[in-house]
Amino acid sequence: MKKIMIYTVLLFCLCLCGCDGGQGSVTETTSTVPVVTTVTTTAETAAKTEEIVTVLFETTTTAAETTAPETTAAETTAETTAETTAETTAAVTTAATAAPETAAPEKKGFMPSVLAGEYTYNDGSAPVIEIVDGVTYVNGILIANKTYSLPEDFNPGGLHPDAEAAFDNMQAAAAAEGVALKIISGYRSYTQQTKTYATYSARDGKEAADRYSARPGHSEHQTGLAMDINSLQQRFADTAAGKWLAAHCAEYGFIIRYGAGKETETGFMYEPWHIRYLGVDLAKAVTESGLCLEEYLGITSAYAE
Ligand code: DAL
Ligand code: ZN
Repeated sequence: MKKIMIYTVLLFCLCLCGCDGGQGSVTETTSTVPVVTTVTTTAETAAKTEEIVTVLFETTTTAAETTAPETTAAETTAETTAETTAETTAAVTTAATAAPETAAPEKKGFMPSVLAGEYTYNDGSAPVIEIVDGVTYVNGILIANKTYSLPEDFNPGGLHPDAEAAFDNMQAAAAAEGVALKIISGYRSYTQQTKTYATYSARDGKEAADRYSARPGHSEHQTGLAMDINSLQQRFADTAAGKWLAAHCAEYGFIIRYGAGKETETGFMYEPWHIRYLGVDLAKAVTESGLCLEEYLGITSAYAE
């Protein structure tokens, strides 16, 4: 994908002079022009009286990342080990609550409110992209993909409690129907992903590994909102558990994140085992749309180089 990025820096004082806070500029743009706001919430910078609003213009000349044939990658052995980690370091996430009250775009809700379903999405307007302490939120939804990375120290310390509770409910419902669901990889730290990606790229080469393993900082597992269920083999899709998961996960707030036939959009090959927590409303909406999350939000997933 070829991007042309032009950054415009607006000072807070300019916003006081008539700007409607950035939100207006969003609706006036086309859907190919996401608006990016960068907010740093460290105590030091929060004390500043100045706010930087960065507007990113992006042309989506999706130069198809013509991927290798499906059959060449490690679809049968992708991520052959369960990479459950027991990172115990404290959470570092500091979402919008610490953002300067002068932040330009109206907040559509960062993680806590997103999980409560307080967001707008897919309404035809350009995606609102907010970067808070290096973490990207698109229309209030935390995103980690090939385009949008997480800081090395982004460490929620495990699965998000809401995602974990949703899985527990889903697991119980599946069990009641005779289907066993098990998390084989949940939260993975940046460090763990570094090792994982290095292992796969050494084994299969970088090009192949990039189709099924995220580079460090780009894995959704680092968000604490993603899990791998039961198996890391694509034939999982044809098992009773795989079918049950695909049919019912949205009822519990999950989507099958990397859908079949969506590799160009998601950046990753089909992973019928990888689910992402979005909350019930959004998960149902995305699933019913038939779109992958990138399509749904109008964003890309491609490494810069
Ligand atoms: N397998 C997914 C893409 C990851 O490595 O996060
Ligand atoms: Zn996964």
